[in-house]
Amino acid sequence: MGQYASKNDEQELAQQQEYMKKAAFYVDGLRQQLGRQPLCCVTTFGCQMNARDSEKLLGILTQIGYAATEVEAEADFVIYNTCTVRDNANQRVYGRLGFLNSMKRNKPHLKVALCGCMMQEQTVIDKIRKSYRFVDLIFGTHNIFKFAQLLVTMFENQEMIVDIWQETDQIVEELPVSRKYSYKSGINIMFGCNNFCSYCIVPYVRGRERSRDPKEILQEIERLVADGVVEVMLLGQNVNSYGKNLDTPITFAQLLQEVEQIEGLKRIRFMTSHPKDLSDELIDVMKHSKKICRHLHLPVQAGSDRILQAMNRRYTKAQYLALVDKIRTAMPDIALTTDIIVGFPGETLSDVEETIDVVRKVQYDNAFTFIYSKRTGTPAAAMENQVPEAVVREGFDKLLKVVQDTAKERAALLQGRVMEALVEEVNEQDASLMTGRLSNNMLVHFPASKSLIGQLVPVFLDRCHGFYYTGYIVE
Ligand code: 5AD
Ligand code: SF4
Repeated sequence: MGQYASKNDEQELAQQQEYMKKAAFYVDGLRQQLGRQPLCCVTTFGCQMNARDSEKLLGILTQIGYAATEVEAEADFVIYNTCTVRDNANQRVYGRLGFLNSMKRNKPHLKVALCGCMMQEQTVIDKIRKSYRFVDLIFGTHNIFKFAQLLVTMFENQEMIVDIWQETDQIVEELPVSRKYSYKSGINIMFGCNNFCSYCIVPYVRGRERSRDPKEILQEIERLVADGVVEVMLLGQNVNSYGKNLDTPITFAQLLQEVEQIEGLKRIRFMTSHPKDLSDELIDVMKHSKKICRHLHLPVQAGSDRILQAMNRRYTKAQYLALVDKIRTAMPDIALTTDIIVGFPGETLSDVEETIDVVRKVQYDNAFTFIYSKRTGTPAAAMENQVPEAVVREGFDKLLKVVQDTAKERAALLQGRVMEALVEEVNEQDASLMTGRLSNNMLVHFPASKSLIGQLVPVFLDRCHGFYYTGYIVE
């Protein structure tokens, strides 16, 4: 199945701008009724793509007259941007909806909306219609650009509004966005996924791969840089297959080279890479780049060839290790991180040993370990040999220990060196310190003034404390 060569839909953009004006009228009515500015609270579950979508939701909400709050209890509009990659995220949403129900009884004008991946599942919609009837608005991943219009419909109706699309070839960008950080930003370069790893629900809830036009991506980054952004994170479920089926095909490595040319931009990150699509061209571009950060997130998922095949990952353990070798030979200082699933159907403790062997050989800087979660509708959910919980737990605990030990060893490697850090925020525990991020994604805490936020400074990495450093700025 091909990608769509998706250009920004100008007509739709104009329509949504009209709906924003109309929505602002209703929010103003609410302001008069309350005698203060109405507050909205956007809560994000899940990945960086959802975090970026939430910035778009908040952009529209603030544009139409809401002020943002992080305190849900004081909000007049609450929206959950949900995730369904693993079941525990779903359970958290249901738990919190219980609280919202009682909140709404005390505050009848409170509006509650749900969106994101979880809403693309019919079973979820059925459950909300039946058990959470107080919810005002539900939409999915494909029509988030219609948020302003959906808000107007919500204000004009009493009953629950549900609008879920199965697919879309539309890409509507350039709506207002309220960025969480002034100095860094995510940018969607593609949507959806065509890989169909057998455990994963993403292709079903996010649809087929669609790449954005490179010109539009570059223009968006230029606008962000003009607005103070120095670091971008290019986002996609599988960025290595970016651009393959655009009208004028372009590789991800070529896109990166174009992004590199943008003056004023200091750092480039991207996420996520599928090992099967990571090209020699990309390694070469990274190696010679001055802006691409020395970090690669390269999900391995499992180490046993039998399990990798059942997962439909399309690489073997040996191929993955050879790829890591190639990357490390080209860039010895690169940080590698990964995702691992334990407990995939049929996985034995000796399969987990194969995963542990990969962790020992690769020496990841960090690894996100997940217990397999059965997702309705995926091929793995129908497999008969689901693994008993006690076996999963045993393998998981063993793996986690090795992950933590190897990560600790890797972390200490930079101690005593001077590295560039992007100053991000005031340290949460000690206000005299600032927190900065190194190119390899590790954090360092050092005494500095708040005025340096958003700037790159050279920092001496004095001491490693397991997963972070303390240090000081050198001139
Ligand atoms: N169960 C557990 N983990 C999963 N992931 C994706 N689907 C599942 C599932 N069904 C993990 C993968 C992926 C990360 C984002 O979430 O490791 O890389
Ligand atoms: Fe899911 Fe696999 Fe696509 Fe990643 S590459 S989103 S794990 S189907």
